[in-house]
Amino acid sequence: MSRPLLQLALDHTSLAAAHRDVALLQDHVDIVEAGTILCLSEGLNAVRALRAQCPEKIIVADWKVADAGETLAQQALGAGANWMTIICAAPLATIEKGHAVAQAHHGEIQIELFGNWTFDDARDWYRIGVRQAIYHRGRDAQASGQQWGEADLARMKALSDIGLELSVTGGLQPADLPLFKEINVKAFIAGRALSGAANPAQTASDFHAQIRAIWGDN
Ligand code: 5RP
Ligand code: MG
Repeated sequence: MSRPLLQLALDHTSLAAAHRDVALLQDHVDIVEAGTILCLSEGLNAVRALRAQCPEKIIVADWKVADAGETLAQQALGAGANWMTIICAAPLATIEKGHAVAQAHHGEIQIELFGNWTFDDARDWYRIGVRQAIYHRGRDAQASGQQWGEADLARMKALSDIGLELSVTGGLQPADLPLFKEINVKAFIAGRALSGAANPAQTASDFHAQIRAIWGDN
């Protein structure tokens, strides 16, 4: 298993606040995400501004697209994103269109797994060329008490067996990472744990220490 990356999710309601956290954290993370909340608050400019602030980083547009895959992928990747998210409920046609645009930009589509989806869906995503998915515990589900469980881990393993690279997110803290030690994780995505930390760089370092302790240095 390769060592998981650390992704900073910026779910701020203003670009100024996101910029402040990027300045503190960009040297401590591998991937920077223009979060859904930030993009709905600030528009496409959020992606452009993060690309300008972090010219060398992988940038994700976490738009959870449900339709208009071609147009929205053109907007996201044209603004500087490397990866764009599409919600698992989107029609396969939307995912295919988005994937074609992402490929033309040497980028990728990530499928956001929320709510209802099936392993047949996952096989279809893989068949059309998508290689990444995000296993997500939603904010609201977490706030209602949803915990990570054996069923989540079993689903993650089955998705890996289909061939999808999995990122994991949803209220993660460094202490949660051992739960996922048997999973081949592409990236751990952390938002509030980093942005809300008293010492964000120290919290990023705590994530990396856990990742190295579990998955090694390679
Ligand atoms: C919510 C998201 C968030 O970006 C993701 O869950 C990471 O944020 P946090 O660590 O604060 O949960 O996409 O839909
Ligand atoms: Mg997000």
